[in-house]
Order: sequence, then structure tokens, then C-alpha cells
Amino acid sequence: MGHSILHCAASVQRNELDGGDVADSKIPAEVKTAGALINWVTACLDSSDVFFGHGTDNSRDEAGALVYHVMQLDHCAGNRDYGVRASPQALAEIQTLLDTRIGKRVPMPYLLNEAWFAGRSFYVDQRALIPRSPLAELIVAGFTPWLASADDGSALELGTGSGCIAVACALALPHWKIVATDISETALEVARINVDRYGLSARIQLLKADMFAGVSGRFDLIVSNPPYVPAAESDDLPAEYGHEPPVALYSGPDGLDSARRILQNARNHLNDKGLLVLEVGEQRECLEAAFPRLPLTWPELDRGGRGIAVITAEDLGPSAGALVTGVNDD
Ligand SMILES: C[S@@+](CC[C@H](N)C(=O)[O-])C[C@H]1O[C@@H](n2cnc3c(N)ncnc32)[C@H](O)[C@@H]1O
Repeated sequence: MGHSILHCAASVQRNELDGGDVADSKIPAEVKTAGALINWVTACLDSSDVFFGHGTDNSRDEAGALVYHVMQLDHCAGNRDYGVRASPQALAEIQTLLDTRIGKRVPMPYLLNEAWFAGRSFYVDQRALIPRSPLAELIVAGFTPWLASADDGSALELGTGSGCIAVACALALPHWKIVATDISETALEVARINVDRYGLSARIQLLKADMFAGVSGRFDLIVSNPPYVPAAESDDLPAEYGHEPPVALYSGPDGLDSARRILQNARNHLNDKGLLVLEVGEQRECLEAAFPRLPLTWPELDRGGRGIAVITAEDLGPSAGALVTGVNDD
């Protein structure tokens, strides 16, 4: 395997000397097994300027995702299949996908039409954001200890995108009903694929809605990973983000336009013992500064990520309008 990395490095070097791009590196003839391919792809990614942050945070995980997906190997088997030899078709496909990944900076999940979230595989394409929310950790834990009861209840997800959060919630809370909304009709098409894939159409209702407009009833849980990147940051983000729908990323000058609308209206859609779980990521301090009187709890996340606020309906209070100023959707 070290042997393969050397071959990759040699190949990359040759291309550079020829004035070629790293993306032009061709799989050396000696590299035939899954393990060797992972090493080679890893080295190629390391030699490029790709950005990791769309489901994986390092080159080796991404190389493994590519090779295992194309060769249809089982991730659960660990490195058991590292000795499996790739067919000529698989080698050609890995080469093509790697060239596009490096040359066009397309995030790997879009190339594979597959992303992993909360331990499950989801279909994804450029109509929806690539699943990567740290909310997965809270969902898998059934929102303990914050949720009053996990036995049965109702949840509203605002901005469902691929549907990954709604599906993961439905699987973690098997007796719950979920309404999952999005303003983007095309994102909802992706969500439909995932809801159907997991056979959850009886428990997850998909709804095209601009935040709470058109959403009726009250829920035990409102969960949202809304867009929260400040609009002015769009030019500074790595090229990979340019392949995602802007409506899924950007939300006004300080990134908090969507969060404000959610905080403003959530109380009107929560039961008395209900809970709002709202992700704002790097905008945490900005949200705290904007709403200094709003009691926000920020769970520690063992698996990384930050900026998920938990707020009880009680804390939002009947006077939420006084704590949170902004547009009212109702
Ligand atoms: C950050 S993405 C989250 C997608 C998915 N929930 C996830 O975690 O991967 C935000 C989503 O909110 C949707 N969205 C943006 N503005 C919205 C609005 N005003 N009303 C409803 N959904 C909205 C976007 O289309 C996008 O799918």
C-alpha cells in the first residue's frame, strides 16, 4: 500500500513537471485492489487543493467513500475487502470521478449521489444541501435529555433539504409523526426520494412552505438547520460550496434572517411542553448578542460541530415577541 502511494506521488510529480494538473494523474497499472486504490486516491486528494467539509473532513475517508461506492463494497466490513481487485470499468469510473472532484471541485457526495447522515445512507444531488449537520448526534440520542417524552409525538422540521433530518428523526422516534417543509420545490423532490427509500411516507408529510406560512397545528418538537451563512461570505467560501443551492446556505447580512423568523414564530407552533432545536453553527455568538434575554442552551457535542441551541416553549414564553423582534409569518 505504501508502494501505491509512492506510485501516486511519482505520477503526480511527472504531471507537474510536464506542466499538467494533478487532476490529470492516471491510476498506475500496479494499483488494482481496493486498499491500493484508497491509498492512491488519498494521495491525489492530498496533492490537490480540494476542500473537505461535505460529510468527510479528510482525504482518506473521502477516498474510501469513492472506492467503496464504485466497487460496491460494504463500509461495515472495515478493511476486510482491501484485497478485492477492481474491474476495468470500476477503475475507469474511479478515475473519471476523481478527475471531476479535483478539476471541478464538486463535493464527493454529489458525484456519488450518496451522503451519510446519522449512520444512514441518503440519496443526494445538487437540488439539496449535502447532509452534514451535527444535529445527527442529538437525533440518534432521541433528543435526550431535553425531550419531555420520546414515546409518541409530533415534530416539525423547517428546511428539510434532502430530508435527512426528518428521516433520521422518524427512525429515532418510531411512533412520531413529522411535517417536513422547504421553500425549495426541487429540494423537496430529493426529500421525497429519501422518505420513500426508508418507507416513511405514512409518517413524514413533505410540505412546500416559506417557514411557518401554511403550517398549521402545534408540535412537540420543532427542529431546524436553516441557512445561516452571512450573505457577504459567499465569495470567501471554498469552491465546493458553489455547487450547493444558495437558498440552503445564505440568510441575510448576519446569517440570522431565517433563525430570527423561526424564533419569532416557534412558540405559536409548539405545545406547552414543546422544544425548539435550532442550529446556527458559527453564528452562535451573533445569535446570543442579538437576543441577550433569550435563554439558550448549547448542548456539548461529542462528535464535533457547534452552535445548536435548545429552547423550551416555556422559555420562548408567551412574550416571545418581546424577546425576539423580527418578521411575523403568522
Ligand atoms: C442548511 S439547509 C438544511 C437542509 C437539511 N435540513 C440538512 O440539514 O441537510 C437549509 C434548508 O432550508 C431551506 N430554506 C431556506 N429558506 C427557507 C424558508 N424561508 N422556508 C423554508 N425552507 C427554507 C433551504 O431550501 C434548505 O433546504
